[in-house]
Amino acid sequence: MQAKPVTPIAQFPADFVWGVATSAFQIEGAATLDGKGRSIWDAFCEQPGAIADASNGLVACEHYQRWNEDLDLIASLGVDAYRFSVSWPRVRPDGAGTWNAKGLDFYDQLVDGLVARGIKPYLTLNHWDLPDALLASGGWTDRDTVHRFVEYAQCIEQRLGDRVVSITTHNEPWVMSVLGYESGIFAPGIKSRAAMTQAAHHLMLSHGLALQALRAQGARAPLGIVLNLSPVQPATDSAADAAQAHLEDGKLLRWYMDPLFKGVYPADVLAHFGADAPCVQPGDMQTIVTPMDFLGVNYYSRSVVSAQGPWDVRQSGLPLTAMDWEVYPEGLTQLLVRLHRDYAVPPMYITENGGAFPDPVVQGQVHDADRIDYIARHIGAVADAMRQGVVMHGYMIWSLLDNFEWASGYAKRFGIVHVDYETQRRTPKDSALWYRSQLLARRRLLAPSPAEPADEPALEAEVMASKGA
Ligand code: FCB
Repeated sequence: MQAKPVTPIAQFPADFVWGVATSAFQIEGAATLDGKGRSIWDAFCEQPGAIADASNGLVACEHYQRWNEDLDLIASLGVDAYRFSVSWPRVRPDGAGTWNAKGLDFYDQLVDGLVARGIKPYLTLNHWDLPDALLASGGWTDRDTVHRFVEYAQCIEQRLGDRVVSITTHNEPWVMSVLGYESGIFAPGIKSRAAMTQAAHHLMLSHGLALQALRAQGARAPLGIVLNLSPVQPATDSAADAAQAHLEDGKLLRWYMDPLFKGVYPADVLAHFGADAPCVQPGDMQTIVTPMDFLGVNYYSRSVVSAQGPWDVRQSGLPLTAMDWEVYPEGLTQLLVRLHRDYAVPPMYITENGGAFPDPVVQGQVHDADRIDYIARHIGAVADAMRQGVVMHGYMIWSLLDNFEWASGYAKRFGIVHVDYETQRRTPKDSALWYRSQLLARRRLLAPSPAEPADEPALEAEVMASKGA
């Protein structure tokens, strides 16, 4: 029998976790159903000009109603894990006060459904959709929000902690604080550098306090955080560009990694913020440095900076995604090796990686060779980092489904499964079929079995059948 080619995924250890990721606001819809409260993103979408296509999350992918068939879809891909988030305003509509039983029931059945299908649930508590009621007192700039978050974390762990295999406190504190409170291009749309640093500090503090509270109540699932990180490179070899790159690295990476792993904010960045530096109370830094069980890394591209002003990505000649992000897999290896070298990191996961591409639908199919190339090269970059001694436990594609891409609305598609927003029909793109075949190839290599699993066209037929096509 001819040997199977060694594929990117087949190079990884047997217990490496392969998954797909989503977040609540981006897929659930059902914005006012069954007692769900309003999130800051519901409010932000109503601001004229905030969302590129003037859309919102009211319907999204209707995942709240279609969760069961979506879990069948995930199972059909053959992945080990599904990373999802809980909507805080769905389970506690005003962020404080009464809990919404129907909201909690939804996540209960979702987790049961994953477990029943043999898929590991990776839960994120805060993927940006803060209850809007908490914005009245300043959202993440208000220290009380820290305590509301800890209560929320405790409630969700009590309810789901016996079945989920991982709990992430926050997804991408840099995005929430910088885009939400400084540039204002994301919810809640505040434009103040002082608000940004305070929000970032409270996110970090609430992470540490939540870890301590969850451990105190006997949490069994590994606990961690997810950061969006990139290597920051100078545009030229000038001293000015090097200095700028060092500062930007400080604001993007060290501002989060240093407190989490060293218990201090980087001195150069603190000096740069000056009077806008956050108010830090005694004991805060000791809380933030509470040890974690894993670190999640979301990686999409590198960052290039110039002291002269914004860098034009087109100068590099690298391929660009539909977001105009450079395709730069080497950056992922560089980043992981650097994290391993500079910090005492626990095992890491790539919790998001993927790309938006044009994705034309041709006779009901999406031939997204560009996305397959992107994913395959980034998986290769993870393997390169592991060969250099970095401990990695898993890789998750962003995203399972096309979905609400925040300020870009529905125009940018990151899914490996296409969503027709008129009909809510899900169609696996070539990348979904490729990912599945890679996982199958790995399993064949690891444990040659007489029963060959179904091939790619069979997957497509299965999925279509499950949609009643
Ligand atoms: C990340 C977000 C995720 C998605 C991707 C494209 O910053 O965590 O929700 O929007 O970008």
